[in-house]
Amino acid sequence: MTTMADEARAESRDGRGFTFRAAADDGVAPGDMVVVTTPDGARLLGQVVDVIEPVGEDPLTGFGVVIGALDEEGAVQRGARPAFRGAALELARPAELGGLHGAAAGTMSIGTWRTGDVGAEASLRAGGFNRHSFLCGQSGSGKTYALGVLLERLLLQTDLRMAVFDPNADFVHLGSTLPGVAEADARRIADRGVRVLRSDSTRGEGDEPLRMRFRTMTRQAQAATLQLDPIHDQDEYNAFISFLAQIGNDSDLGALLAGLRSGTPGQLSLARRMENLGLLEWQVWAGELPSAADVVTGGGADGGADGGAGVTVMDLGGFGDPSEPIAVCLEVVDELWAQRDRRIPTLLVIDEAHNLCSSDPASPVAQKLLDRLIQIAAEGRKYGLWFLLSSQRPSKIDPQILSQCDNLMLMRMNSPDDIAELGRAFGFAPKAMLQASNGFVQGEALLAGGFAPVPMLVQVRERLTPQGGSDVAVPLVGA
Ligand SMILES: Nc1ncnc2c1ncn2[C@@H]1O[C@H](COP(=O)(O)OP(=O)(O)O)[C@@H](O)[C@H]1O
Ligand SMILES: [Mg+2]
Repeated sequence: MTTMADEARAESRDGRGFTFRAAADDGVAPGDMVVVTTPDGARLLGQVVDVIEPVGEDPLTGFGVVIGALDEEGAVQRGARPAFRGAALELARPAELGGLHGAAAGTMSIGTWRTGDVGAEASLRAGGFNRHSFLCGQSGSGKTYALGVLLERLLLQTDLRMAVFDPNADFVHLGSTLPGVAEADARRIADRGVRVLRSDSTRGEGDEPLRMRFRTMTRQAQAATLQLDPIHDQDEYNAFISFLAQIGNDSDLGALLAGLRSGTPGQLSLARRMENLGLLEWQVWAGELPSAADVVTGGGADGGADGGAGVTVMDLGGFGDPSEPIAVCLEVVDELWAQRDRRIPTLLVIDEAHNLCSSDPASPVAQKLLDRLIQIAAEGRKYGLWFLLSSQRPSKIDPQILSQCDNLMLMRMNSPDDIAELGRAFGFAPKAMLQASNGFVQGEALLAGGFAPVPMLVQVRERLTPQGGSDVAVPLVGA
């Protein structure tokens, strides 16, 4: 049933917003798409924004926004906004919603759009990822799974360069498809040549080492790795920069340490610092191997022929020192930033983004990384550096990053405080739709912002590639 009771009526003074009245059992909900037929025969596509629950036998009332006029071909003309009174109201059908996606190139099918009592194709504009996106939902709501769906669709429909920062090895199989996937899709994904970089303890067949170079880090990043503060550690910091100026900038850590050990007292104390921090034991140093920054940017010894438009998954787990993965991330984003004038469209994907984007970083390296991420959030768009961040709590993400996100994908969220915060940060998402997220089941999401034609409630589609690090099951007796 897509028709509402006959008495359903809508009225608009400005052709933009409308109020409506419907029977209580019409079951209209925030987010539902409706077709308004005005007394002079115009058909308008609208969206319910809020509903006031009726008392007793009263009709249901609410308000919505006009999206545009439906023309004879079923396309939506967004500019057309006539005022109306006494218009008939009914729930929209899939054909009418199809007109919204229109002929826009690069539509990505990401699941089933739940509106009224129908399920329609839910598509995002691939071109809408040219801004920062935030995926939010409580643990277990299906964020990582949904992030995988987004990445697969982007692999299929764009040539975006992607750098995936993967804390739980969830995307290490992004380059291989599940049985039953359409051949063309499987081939396209295989052809993207996803490269997977991992630590020595987690690396399997086909994976490459996740490494970095001390000598190509920025001077500030090097100092942060040594936990040297230019003010608090004035003397050592100064000994460090003058030593580097003296020996040149192409020394690796081992050579550096050897030089420092045989130097002045100031240099000797720097050597002690390195030893005490255990820096030489880090497995993350590349030696002769390519660094992650080289792989991501297509620079270094082994490539760059394709302009680096590759897809790199960096599994951040399995290192001995928690600063190692942070330092690699820092080198990668520093290098992407250093090469920003190449303007290669690049999506920086960060799952569990509160680890890297926390406003309270745990170490000097993490602070440097945060500083760079904030800078990319503020200025990256004009260079084609865009974020796709996923996290369970908006309040754990630095506000200078969160406030730059223009696309929202919200999954199940129970905390009213977090929903209120999202309402402030993402004013384009209707409040009643945000609030509905506490009733979402796994895989359900609200999509709003530049990548969505209108705010949509969606059940995300099935994955094409296997999700890696699944939860560990409780061992059951007899099982
Ligand atoms: N839409 C879905 N369809 C099928 N399984 C799903 C879906 N969403 C999540 N899952 C499964 O549920 C578990 C938790 O999902 P996950 O995406 O890891 O949650 P989150 O990242 O929000 O903590 C995973 O095993 C995942 O494969
Ligand atoms: Mg997850």
